[in-house]
Amino acid sequence: MRNSLYMVVVALIVGNSFGVHGGQLGYDYYKYSCPLLEDTVKKEMIAIFATDISAPAAFLRLFFHDCQVQGCDASILLDSHDLTTHNTELVSSKNFGIRKQELISHIKSVLELECPGQVSCADIIALAAKESVLFTGGPHITIPLGRKDSTTATNSKQADLNLPSPGITVDQLLHIFTSKGMNLEESVAILGAHTLGVGHCVNIVNRLYNRKPSDRMDFVFEQMLRLKCPTRVPLTNLTFVSNDLTPFVFDNQYYTNVLMGKGLFGIDSSISTDPRTLPIVRRFAADQNYFFNVFSSAFVKLSSTNVLTQRQGEVRRQCNRIN
Ligand code: HEM
Ligand SMILES: *[C@@H]1O[C@H](CO)[C@@H](O)[C@H](O)[C@H]1NC(C)=O
Repeated sequence: MRNSLYMVVVALIVGNSFGVHGGQLGYDYYKYSCPLLEDTVKKEMIAIFATDISAPAAFLRLFFHDCQVQGCDASILLDSHDLTTHNTELVSSKNFGIRKQELISHIKSVLELECPGQVSCADIIALAAKESVLFTGGPHITIPLGRKDSTTATNSKQADLNLPSPGITVDQLLHIFTSKGMNLEESVAILGAHTLGVGHCVNIVNRLYNRKPSDRMDFVFEQMLRLKCPTRVPLTNLTFVSNDLTPFVFDNQYYTNVLMGKGLFGIDSSISTDPRTLPIVRRFAADQNYFFNVFSSAFVKLSSTNVLTQRQGEVRRQCNRIN
């Protein structure tokens, strides 16, 4: 009796937090089919991070961009082999700056030796992102696994439509994340991923040279941006600026920067003026533990949206091609 009541309660909680999204994922998914999966991924990631301190940021953004187009299904890794044109997701200008995707294929090849045909590329992307957060000082997030890889080719149009521009409004931001089951706090927390990494001038100049009156920016910060990105149309795509003061550390510095008018993108600034999001930004800036907790639950929701599970999709043999 006690046991069955317990099961009902667990079912209710799990059912509630994942709902239609990701209900079939499991925390023990690879327990028998690939028991050392998480250790192997961690070991490979640490080797990668040792040679490139900027890699965690790349993996975290890769994960978001995978999940944002057709769900977390590794569609972002497909090359033009499965398309009639060369218009892969990565061709989209919204995917400018995406890097390190070939290292997911590398980890996949290691896992194919350890547990052949078992681990999806979509799960590897999610695990790489979670290790990136942990390695740089962020929370230890436990994510459910069992995503399958897509069997349909995607293209740059789908990426153009679904990936957000740096100047989206708070309403658009909330629409993107509440549709994934996040609440207001989680929607602000997931943007805290911008505690890592950089942005390039192409994503900054529009804000800088077509400033909306409502867009608050610290004066010294603005002069720095104008020096780095001096022309409306960037002469080069090589120049970049840190997302916050500590771009290699996963901390709550992003929110402190945002409060000081030093958020890099339009949306980073907008959350500091909107009355719905400002109190949350303040709270995250004041309480890193609280930010970490909300970020963790937001991350699990992001990782569980529109996933293919069980008989849907496939486990790709190679991450860049449909089997
Ligand atoms: C929905 C609102 C978001 C917008 C408008 C946005 C926009 C951007 C832009 C324009 C860049 C700069 C790319 C470049 O110029 O190289 C960037 C970088 C980045 N974004 Fe976002 N982003 C959003 C949400 C997220 C989320 C949800 C995550 C992860 C969970 C994320 C993680 C990152 C990371 C880690 C970088 C740095 C990448 C690197 O250094 O290579 N972003 N984002
Ligand atoms: C920079 O990248 C953007 C986005 O991919 C592209 O549209 C533009 O042509 C590039 N500019 C230069 C100077 O290479």
